[in-house]
Amino acid sequence: MKQIIFLFSTILFLFMETNAKNIIKLNPPDTSRGLPLMSALAQRSSAKEFDSSEIDIKDISDLLWAANGINRQKDENRTASSAANSQDINIYLFTKNAVFLYSSTNHTLEEKVKGDHRLAISGSQTEFANAPAFFLIVSDHSKFKYGDETQRHTWGAIDGGLVAQNICLFASSVGMAARPRITMDYNKIRELLKLKDSQQMLLNVIVSYKKQ
Ligand SMILES: Cc1cc2nc3c(=O)[nH]c(=O)nc-3n(C[C@H](O)[C@H](O)[C@H](O)COP(=O)(O)O)c2cc1C
Repeated sequence: MKQIIFLFSTILFLFMETNAKNIIKLNPPDTSRGLPLMSALAQRSSAKEFDSSEIDIKDISDLLWAANGINRQKDENRTASSAANSQDINIYLFTKNAVFLYSSTNHTLEEKVKGDHRLAISGSQTEFANAPAFFLIVSDHSKFKYGDETQRHTWGAIDGGLVAQNICLFASSVGMAARPRITMDYNKIRELLKLKDSQQMLLNVIVSYKKQ
């Protein structure tokens, strides 16, 4: 009997392990940091060079919150508006260790794919493949309650652009380097992340500390 119980608990443990999600709890946002908006706008530019050092968790937390975090708990409204409050934008973070999915609701990162997939997100611009963080912005058209395909594409692209600009302005306000890009290996990434047909890859934003 003891052996059966041992075997059963081992199987249960292995089952739980393989289903355990690797989730990183992010820091609450520091809403007092950074330059005033007008100074951040005055300094905004798309960086041409990126420092390869890893970005610390505090900055990743603030970058993601600035991008599309919840700023009004009541209705889970975000820092970026979205067409008809559809909240269609998903943000994936590519680092040298893994690809993560940001949850605005929980302010967490969930590991989706292990390994370094920065070459796929760099696409033909392989000179950027050592940058520490790529924020991939995806619109999930199934979140739109109405609208034809063309309208959903337009709304998704606008919603994604707002999120990208939030990242760029946050980077500018704290003296980090950022560049929004449409370049990436679309097919490889769609396959890697097992995206649904309703998920449209829009653009990615590279972020690093300023190269000295
Ligand atoms: C929608 C969009 C797509 C872009 N795609 C790329 C890209 O694929 N590769 C790249 O190096 N830069 C890309 N950029 C950056 C632009 O080249 C850059 O914003 C432009 O040269 C103006 O420079 P600035 O942002 O410093 O004002 C993109 C920018 C936008 C808004």
